[in-house]
Amino acid sequence: MEKENLIRPSLLAADFLHLSKDVEEMISFGITHCHFDVMDGSFVKEVSFGQPLFRSLKKYFSDIVFDVHLMTLNPLLQAESFLSLGAKEVCFHYEAMTLGDIMKINRLKEKFADCKIGVAISPETSVNEILTVLPLFDYVLVMSVVPGKGGQAFIEGSEKKIADLDAIRKEKDLTFLIGVDGGINEKTAPLCENSGVDFLVAGSYYFKSQDRKLALSCLHSKEVKE
Ligand code: DX5
Ligand code: ZN
Repeated sequence: MEKENLIRPSLLAADFLHLSKDVEEMISFGITHCHFDVMDGSFVKEVSFGQPLFRSLKKYFSDIVFDVHLMTLNPLLQAESFLSLGAKEVCFHYEAMTLGDIMKINRLKEKFADCKIGVAISPETSVNEILTVLPLFDYVLVMSVVPGKGGQAFIEGSEKKIADLDAIRKEKDLTFLIGVDGGINEKTAPLCENSGVDFLVAGSYYFKSQDRKLALSCLHSKEVKE
């Protein structure tokens, strides 16, 4: 089966009473990564889910990587907690970080050397602001909506941030991946793909589609639609 590693469905848009069915279906489609949105009610208004659900999913599903997106305060503490539970990819928000956190990232990387640690940037944060910390991270998650809930419209111009990050990694010979999260559909996906994105997080578009397999193939088309 061909592996689907461009699109990462966000569990936030799934029907929580049928999560295992939904994850099984993703695996049957060859999806390699599933996005796991943690909201703490402080960094963002809503509360979603956390370590207890992650533990259960990890217990039953070893064939898919859960990429944890922490929309929380105390990002390093939370990241360490998820990494200790076996998360292989964890990102947290630049806006939630303190100077002390930056100092602790290298220690976390040493402790979990086989894991990927990413930084997420909210729409108000420019690429210039994160230039100095970029070499610390394995990936950058560009938020194309205000973090905190699913089903919002893609903020125009987010693709420019992707293009800027792509240019920077080429120029500086850095290896971080670029992901985009929020408002991804058949119109916005090509904008991001043509700007150099490595993965797309899609919540509503994937889960609310009548035909999810078709939704995946629509997201693959690089043709820009009006
Ligand atoms: C938003 C979350 C996203 C969200 C995406 O705060 O980080 O991952 O689930 O959902 P859609 O695709 O519906 O915008
Ligand atoms: Zn997310």
